[in-house]
Amino acid sequence: MNDTFLRACLGEKTEYTPVWIMRQAGRYLPEYQSVRAEVDFLTLCKTPELAAKVTIQPVLRLGVDAAILFSDILIPIEAMGMDLEFTDKKGPVLKDPVRSKSGVDRLIVPDTEDSMSFVLEAIKILRQELKVPLIGFSGAPFTLATYMIEGGSTKNFINTKRIMFQNPGLFNLLMDKLTMTVISYLTAQIRAGAQAVQIFDTWAGILSADDYREYALPYVKRVVSGVKKEGVPVIYFVNDCAGLLKEIRKSGADVIGIDWRVDLHDAIKGLGKKYAVQGNLDPYALFLPKEKLEDRVKDVLWKGEFAKGHIFNLGHGIFPEAPLEGAIAMVEAVHRFSEK
Ligand code: CP3
Repeated sequence: MNDTFLRACLGEKTEYTPVWIMRQAGRYLPEYQSVRAEVDFLTLCKTPELAAKVTIQPVLRLGVDAAILFSDILIPIEAMGMDLEFTDKKGPVLKDPVRSKSGVDRLIVPDTEDSMSFVLEAIKILRQELKVPLIGFSGAPFTLATYMIEGGSTKNFINTKRIMFQNPGLFNLLMDKLTMTVISYLTAQIRAGAQAVQIFDTWAGILSADDYREYALPYVKRVVSGVKKEGVPVIYFVNDCAGLLKEIRKSGADVIGIDWRVDLHDAIKGLGKKYAVQGNLDPYALFLPKEKLEDRVKDVLWKGEFAKGHIFNLGHGIFPEAPLEGAIAMVEAVHRFSEK
């Protein structure tokens, strides 16, 4: 078992810097495309054998040091009682967005064993087959709340901010239910075999530092402390984190994911010595010619040396359009240039 990734999460010395890629199981991989040609996205998520198969694809193809469970952050929202659909044009669509007290009251805190057993089964299959650690994941309460309130993807988050500011009691009620859901969902993943978990806060970067401290951080802290009891490393990723690092360091997570807009060395200075970091190559760098890509890899590796531990990753998910050769070259370069 290659445990480089887990040791780096804990800030222990490793022979080289471990690497994986956010959204590594996905459309840039021809073998993923051929599975998707046969089944729709939600069926893929809900069929343990297929979810396990596409989880393993990037491990075999790229030689990454960790696998991330194939699923989606919106799966628990469906289990809470909302109607979820993935459309080709608009992405995810959630019917009857949550904007009232009755909307929140209708939602349940789901039991993972009951309504998301396919996730636990996929994890069990993967632990039999993988020779690298398996990362489980969930959306963070704030990011999940934006999808529930907006009813899908959005540009300006007007409905979310309107409820936050005009009806903070209602917002808190929704965030409470989400927090309980996320704790129980991640705990179930760990008990089924996930060896680390990542919390995706994709949209927390739309908040000012003051609003983040009031409307997002308290719930993340509860999730982290609830999940930490299970004894596996917790990674917390906030996209667009530059203005929030002082707050993010209070999350209690073991590893802080850094997006690509921030200089990694500055981020590490802002966070201090207590944290391992994950990131943060610009996802567009995969489109560069190999030599230039390698220079960027070296730069991120060098900056990562200043942290307690460093897990190499892109600074956000890989694009479906990214060239496969770029992803392969990146992983190879991380291993070659970081070898001690
Ligand atoms: O990282 C992995 O390889 C594991 C799988 C994974 C997916 N989604 C698969 C997916 C993970 C960890 C996610 C998380 C996720 N899902 C996030 C947070 C991560 C981030 O990027 O910040 C968000 C915001 C979502 C919600 C979501 N899922 C949207 C908005 C969309 C549509 C946009 C798009 O990229 O098509 C999805 C669909 C989705 N999730 C796909 C995959 C591989 C594409 C679906 C397809 O195959 O057609």
